[in-house]
Amino acid sequence: MNTRIKVIRSPRAMQDACLKLRARGKTIGFVPTMGALHDGHLSLIARARRENDAVVVSIFVNPTQFGPSEDYLKYPRPFSHDKDLCRAAGVDILFAPGVAAMYTQDHKTFVNVAKMSDVLCGAARPGHFRGVATVVNKLFNIVAPSSAYFGKKDFQQLAIIKNMVRDLNIPVKIVSCPIIREPSGLARSSRNRYLSDIERDHAQKLSRSLSLARRLITRDGISNPARITAEMASIIKTIPGARIDYIKICNPETLEELKTIETRALIALAIFIGKTRLIDNCIAIRDVVN
Ligand code: PAJ
Repeated sequence: MNTRIKVIRSPRAMQDACLKLRARGKTIGFVPTMGALHDGHLSLIARARRENDAVVVSIFVNPTQFGPSEDYLKYPRPFSHDKDLCRAAGVDILFAPGVAAMYTQDHKTFVNVAKMSDVLCGAARPGHFRGVATVVNKLFNIVAPSSAYFGKKDFQQLAIIKNMVRDLNIPVKIVSCPIIREPSGLARSSRNRYLSDIERDHAQKLSRSLSLARRLITRDGISNPARITAEMASIIKTIPGARIDYIKICNPETLEELKTIETRALIALAIFIGKTRLIDNCIAIRDVVN
């Protein structure tokens, strides 16, 4: 166990520490987070640990990616527990800046990855991905990582970051990591803690509906997205108090909605259970001989 975790709060001090590591030829694996760490985050950290000389985790609840009616203020911030988890996971540096250190009063520069930011989660959360792309770009400039680790749980975020890195020639390798789930199939999320026991039980139906969709595509060769999303919706509608934000089948690279499923398809959903908005997704590959 690494007992020597260092907590850095100032972007300038973080930049100095990382540039020194890189100048000594060390690779840095970076895991950006908003804290309230769970097994999903820890799987990213474990992979970064295996693949790099130094591991940096950031914990920053980024205000620019929350809408005015969203949960920014009540987002969980169990910092000292998060720090213990990072220490046990062998993290070298925990970067935990305050809001004022990250955004000056007159901050005016933002990164917008066009088109992809306005669909799926972006449709219901205007400005969300602009906030994400901006803070990830800032964090990349501060940490100067060799590789950065992102979960497929936030598939759209990952696709947007990959595009940003390509379009802006950012010298960071983006590593995509699998979705970590609870035994029930529910994707792990910091927001699962908002669910009551009954809601959590109902939430299993999200991953069940995705498994059904994947079977319809891979086993039955169904190519009509509307038929598949209708079957998924009929499962979700059996959850009391559930509201469908979206259930969509898209091109996994461009996120454009598919009219026909030819080979690879992203099946993505966002569902409110009570007040909690949950997202999940999977990839299905349709066999061309079907
Ligand atoms: P956060 O929601 O804390 O997630 C941090 C990282 O953990 C993301 O890459 C996310 O996809 C990954 N993750 C979350 N749950 C996961 C799961 N069940 N399985 C695998 N990976 C999972 O995403 C953000 O923070 C922010 O938008 C951020 C990128 C830090 C920018 O503010």
